[in-house]
Amino acid sequence: QRNAKVAVMGASGGIGQPLSLLLKQSPLVTELSLYDIVNTPGVAADLSHIETPAKVKGFTGPDQLKDSLKGAQIVIIPAGVPRKPGMTRDDLFNTNASIVRDLAVAIAEVAPKAFVAIISNPVNSTVPIASEVLQKAGVYDPNRVFGVTTLDIVRANTFVAEAKGLDPLKTSVPVIGGHSGITIIPLISQAKPSVSFPDDQLKALTERIQEAGTEVVKAKAGTGSATLSMAYAGARFGFALIRALNGEQNVIECAYVRSNITEAKYFSTPILLGKNGVEKNLGLGKLSDYEAKLLQAAIPELKKNIQKGEDFVNKK
Ligand code: APR
Repeated sequence: QRNAKVAVMGASGGIGQPLSLLLKQSPLVTELSLYDIVNTPGVAADLSHIETPAKVKGFTGPDQLKDSLKGAQIVIIPAGVPRKPGMTRDDLFNTNASIVRDLAVAIAEVAPKAFVAIISNPVNSTVPIASEVLQKAGVYDPNRVFGVTTLDIVRANTFVAEAKGLDPLKTSVPVIGGHSGITIIPLISQAKPSVSFPDDQLKALTERIQEAGTEVVKAKAGTGSATLSMAYAGARFGFALIRALNGEQNVIECAYVRSNITEAKYFSTPILLGKNGVEKNLGLGKLSDYEAKLLQAAIPELKKNIQKGEDFVNKK
């Protein structure tokens, strides 16, 4: 038996719509619950005509928030605002932090056992925010809350495969750490199949993976950030959660989770997923000297981002 009820929070957005389409298109999903503050009746009606089994329902506005979460086994959150002209990073943080906090309050009440997969940026901080909210409500299970870093892995696979003429679908590059800038640590020394690069090329490739989001922002010329590739990555991670939920063995994905692997309280590593979420944290593996230096640089930044998230919930 392979099925799951999935809720998408922020389903009408640039990420939410293609993510919902990919989920609807999959036979793994039996019910798809779409929540947003705008446009969900239209998105739901549109998707509901697709000839796949998933039943689609749209929910709009705060009054319908709790209903949208009822019975959800997996909650994927791409709700938020992308940065607009005139907006500081702090403005963006405050808006998205509030959105994630409010959604987490509802999840704690209505779907406390659901797997929660957070896409809303800054992921380094929004995962601690949701975790603190769930903790305060007494329902926090660190094995069930994930920051979706899959796009970093997808990009690393694509760029490494391109550079070496490999099949990207058969190339696997773990990416650890966080989900922005220097906190993103591609472990090219652990790529499968194994590859090697001269130092300068390795550095350029690493920096391209770390700044790949900016590449898209620039190409979109002020109209937004990555949406289609993020939707693909969110769906890939969602399907991994569904497969684990349905008892499939050896489901492994990198994800940003509560962790004691490093000094950072939340950290992305390869995770063995099972029916209860994180089954086993597979850790860092063996790092090259270069990767160890990247890790050293990432930790203070990550700790700052985590603290900022926790402070948002705990301080007035
Ligand atoms: N609850 C639910 N949905 C909300 C809320 C809320 N409180 N506030 C905003 N939304 C919805 C918006 O109505 C919109 O449909 O979230 C959606 C966001 O979509 P876009 O504005 O198109 O943004 P998108 O590019 O999809 O990015 C969303 O993901 O990668 C991150 O940095 C990105 O944080 C941003 C988020």
